[in-house]
Amino acid sequence: MLLRYPDRLPLTPRTPRITLGEGGTPLIEAPSLAAELGLGRLLLKFEGLNPTGSFKDRGMVVAVARAIEADSQVLVCASTGNTSASAAAYAARFGLRAVVVVPAGMIASGKLLQAQVCGATVLAIRGNFDRALQVVRELAARHSVALVNSLNPYRIEGQKTAAFEIVEALGAAPDVLSLPVGNAGNITAYWRGFREEQARGRVSALPRLLGVQAQGAAPIVRGRPVARPRTVASAIRIGNPASWEGATLARDESRGTIVAATDEEILAAQRRLASREGVFAEPASAAALAGVDRAVRSGWIAPGERVVLVLTGHGLKDPDAVRDELPPPIPVDDDPAGIARLLEL
Ligand code: F0G
Repeated sequence: MLLRYPDRLPLTPRTPRITLGEGGTPLIEAPSLAAELGLGRLLLKFEGLNPTGSFKDRGMVVAVARAIEADSQVLVCASTGNTSASAAAYAARFGLRAVVVVPAGMIASGKLLQAQVCGATVLAIRGNFDRALQVVRELAARHSVALVNSLNPYRIEGQKTAAFEIVEALGAAPDVLSLPVGNAGNITAYWRGFREEQARGRVSALPRLLGVQAQGAAPIVRGRPVARPRTVASAIRIGNPASWEGATLARDESRGTIVAATDEEILAAQRRLASREGVFAEPASAAALAGVDRAVRSGWIAPGERVVLVLTGHGLKDPDAVRDELPPPIPVDDDPAGIARLLEL
């Protein structure tokens, strides 16, 4: 990505052009869901296909490159899981130490394993993500470590490239871009990316942004922080987003909206994406579809509109979120004739 967009990212001649192959994710047509929802087109920006399985890699590569340039030895972040997986991977590959602070017992199993297997120091605090973020901010203020949360401006800069890719693929912006909102860095980044495309004359019309929070963790929808955020979508279990202002600005400037979806709606959307379109995204990502479903029903999205869903992370990261919802495998004998009878072939 640093090689692809060198003049659109905050790089200097001394910034190492590192990569793990991030970016360049597909925009997948979702015709069944588009028909069900009455949309002109529905497209899935599948960010789960980044090297560590989430969109975080786009910003992490820029933040890590600049950290290396500044001679930092240690990356530090708070995380609901994906940022820590990404920081751990880039640290491992490029010779840095990663220290990640997570809320104990609240991280999806795949994400925790990713950080551990890459050799990060994983610290689990009693407390939620918001507290973990306060802790690492203080640590970074007092010690010489590179903070790689989205408070780090290079993270947002890297993440805006996803908007460039959508415009390249469509030759225009969609009518609506729907994405989950947690710490609110990504919605801020997409809006910046689309605005930059407009400034370069690549698009005339900008998309309306549809941000989706989980009902039990919806501070922006409610207009005040949530002390004890709760949701099955652990990636966006955040009560006091760092980029709150960026999100409301993106919402208002784009004539967009930020809505809440219940856990039931999120899990149903996750199943629907997988069973209709074959794309397995994690619960937080599926919130983007739950939000579109609501917006279609309320009339905020009109029939025939062109919608892009940002599927921020891969479903394999969080098998526990879906396991209980699924029927177990059917036990059978190793007998083809019996299996054929069972299947009524
Ligand atoms: N989707 C996924 C899969 C995420 O991991 C996150 C955030 C979001 C959406 C929300 O993005 O914070 O920019 O609004 N995950 C962070 C983490 C908080 O620590 O991995 P946001």
